[in-house]
Amino acid sequence: RHGFTGQGLILALDQGTTSTRAMLFDGAMQVIATDQQEFPQHFPASGLVEHDAEDLWQTSVATMKGALATAGVDAGALAAIGITNQRETTVVWDRETGRAIHPAIVWQDRRTARICGELKREGHEQLVRDRSGLLLDPYFSATKIGWILDKVEGARAAAAAGRLAFGTVDSFLIWRMTGGRVHATDATNASRTMLYDIHKGSWCPDLCAVFGVPMSMLPDVRDSAGDFGETLPDLLGRPVPIRGVAGDQQAATTGQACFRPGMVKATYGTGCFALLVTGRQSVRSRNRLLTTVALQLNGRRSYALEGSIFVAGAAVQWLRDGLGLISTSAESEQLAAEADPAQSVYLVPAFTGLGAPHWDADARGAMFGLTRATGPREIARAVLDSVAYQTRDLVEAMRGDWEGTDFGETVLRVDGGMVASDWLMQRLADMLATPVDRPKLRETTAMGAAYLAGLAAGVYPDPEVFADGWALDRRFEPAMAEAERERLYGGWQDAVRRTLTRT
Ligand code: G3P
Repeated sequence: RHGFTGQGLILALDQGTTSTRAMLFDGAMQVIATDQQEFPQHFPASGLVEHDAEDLWQTSVATMKGALATAGVDAGALAAIGITNQRETTVVWDRETGRAIHPAIVWQDRRTARICGELKREGHEQLVRDRSGLLLDPYFSATKIGWILDKVEGARAAAAAGRLAFGTVDSFLIWRMTGGRVHATDATNASRTMLYDIHKGSWCPDLCAVFGVPMSMLPDVRDSAGDFGETLPDLLGRPVPIRGVAGDQQAATTGQACFRPGMVKATYGTGCFALLVTGRQSVRSRNRLLTTVALQLNGRRSYALEGSIFVAGAAVQWLRDGLGLISTSAESEQLAAEADPAQSVYLVPAFTGLGAPHWDADARGAMFGLTRATGPREIARAVLDSVAYQTRDLVEAMRGDWEGTDFGETVLRVDGGMVASDWLMQRLADMLATPVDRPKLRETTAMGAAYLAGLAAGVYPDPEVFADGWALDRRFEPAMAEAERERLYGGWQDAVRRTLTRT
């Protein structure tokens, strides 16, 4: 692809875990309008998290219309729509009615932990790792689909008769937007289901058999920049082509222009997701990271190693809403900056267990090193430090997995709400002993989805040209003495060891 027009607007829909956003980008990739809506989270019991699929749909429609209205344009101005989404979250719907047969089971939901344990004992983890690149964990879609089929009366028979469809959220939205004409997903989302062979690039019959998922339920898997049909004419007033789809972390990797092997991005939201791009080579982790599809363009897949941390920004929320030590998130860095350097207080924020590289679902949060001198400042610093230390854990795991590349030359590109804190970004650079680059454009997830749609629609340029346009806001250089860094990190490792329920 050479020529690109720069003509027409691109609408990016970002259907996330706690809110849905639509952003309108112009032909020069500038944001011209945004709309956002939160929707209810349902916690039917401890460890269970559900979304009403209708909320996901209605907030998507409302925010897309809202962004168009804010910009004062109609759908005729759109060249394409790009969709990005919370990954793994599972929707099973009836092909006749288009309605979900059970609330969406969210990625954070742990209800299938026991099933995963049994499958591990039966020796299936090897197959899962070999084919899907993932670990046998409730995080991914496969056991959630099985759970819905077993739980909803008549679902197994309906699935066997071809009446039910499965999709991650992108797929469900595409189905609705196209009036049931298109049942498709992209390779990045497929790679999070635990049913997809990431090496062959097709659904894996053996994994489907292990998890009891009929293959007739599965969507067609396409390029991330490709043809996903057109919206029904009355949805936005005119039919609009859907041309880009990627899971939110992969969309952020694209939005950060991390295309070359060795490039790493970390997104700090509720949790933190770090992806190291390994290019055409899929690297198998020895340190319990995930191997995942970073992108598929023109039928060619590129891969990444991913580290997923469940609690990052959520720990600052806890400081605000749980402990009431601050009234706005921004206050956390002021407090932390005033903390007593002589005190070594650690928080291990295992509020919902620990993700990579420990994967300990049963661990719970703990604080260490408290004395009578410990106050809100030291606790605030421990909260922010936990984000830096957890990132270091991931980067250490990546270093161990990715021989032959001088990780020392790699910088970390960061995005998400927390990167507004200069204090935290400096701490991150100090802890990693690696420069941390904060881009001018922080909306990297939506940008990634818009870029993929714009690329497929011929509006935006090739990845190389796009990568040249990535602009730095500020680079944070490591400034801490090595002995101090290792002393602090050693204390963190000790705290984690004492928190884990198994070694
Ligand atoms: O894997 C889960 C991830 O995609 C969720 O991202 O930003 O919706 O919390 P977010």
